[in-house]
Amino acid sequence: MFDAVSGRYDLLNRILTLGRDRRWRKLAAKSAEVSTGSVVLDACCGTADLALAINAETGARIVGIDFSPDMLKIAKEKIVRAGKDDAISFIEASVDDIPFDDDSFDAVTVGWGLRNTPDYQAVLEEFYRVVRPGGRMVCLESTEPETALLRIPYKFILSNIVPLAGRMFSKDYGAYKYLSDSIQAFPPQKELVSMMEKAGWVDVSYRNLLGGAVAIHVGRKPSSGH
Ligand SMILES: C[S@@+](CC[C@H](N)C(=O)[O-])C[C@H]1O[C@@H](n2cnc3c(N)ncnc32)[C@H](O)[C@@H]1O
Repeated sequence: MFDAVSGRYDLLNRILTLGRDRRWRKLAAKSAEVSTGSVVLDACCGTADLALAINAETGARIVGIDFSPDMLKIAKEKIVRAGKDDAISFIEASVDDIPFDDDSFDAVTVGWGLRNTPDYQAVLEEFYRVVRPGGRMVCLESTEPETALLRIPYKFILSNIVPLAGRMFSKDYGAYKYLSDSIQAFPPQKELVSMMEKAGWVDVSYRNLLGGAVAIHVGRKPSSGH
């Protein structure tokens, strides 16, 4: 499915977020609290927009991991065009089983990715494994507003407008119906906090954006954590 939508993915992102995704990526990048000399794993990196934002904001080097060859093809072309191929590299693999040793990264980031994985808890634990003690995890994800008043119109837009926009702009109704369904099936903000804590992350907090239609969750691996 991700291979199929890869060509129009960036365009749909801009449309469905009303152009706000760039600002949210910057906020997520800053939340990783990394700097020049740090190495970040950007999980489910897709076409590399979050990886580029992290590098631009922090100067960190990024390894992007994604299992879609077509998404990675676009990502690699984009990185070369941006002159960032010395700072950002890619691995084609699934985040269920990350091909890196324990404690390899200063932070792990995931933008609109965790929602697509089959076992959130196992993936949160895998992220924890590959981050060094004291490092951070940042999850930028589409969520549902926490107040009932906003949730009702939001669900209408999600179930009706989003799949139609998918059909119009990417000729793929199914993928954008899946987007809508998967957002509604994703754990609410507070439940994701509990899941991150269960995986070992501490000081877990989140910030709602656009009334809670998007949230950034941040956690830290304890300094003595294993
Ligand atoms: C909605 S896109 C997000 C891309 C990018 N992070 C962004 O901010 O635009 C989700 C990406 O997750 C990838 N993905 C989904 N499940 C995955 C898994 N188990 N392992 C690796 N990548 C996965 C897909 O191939 C796709 O590129």
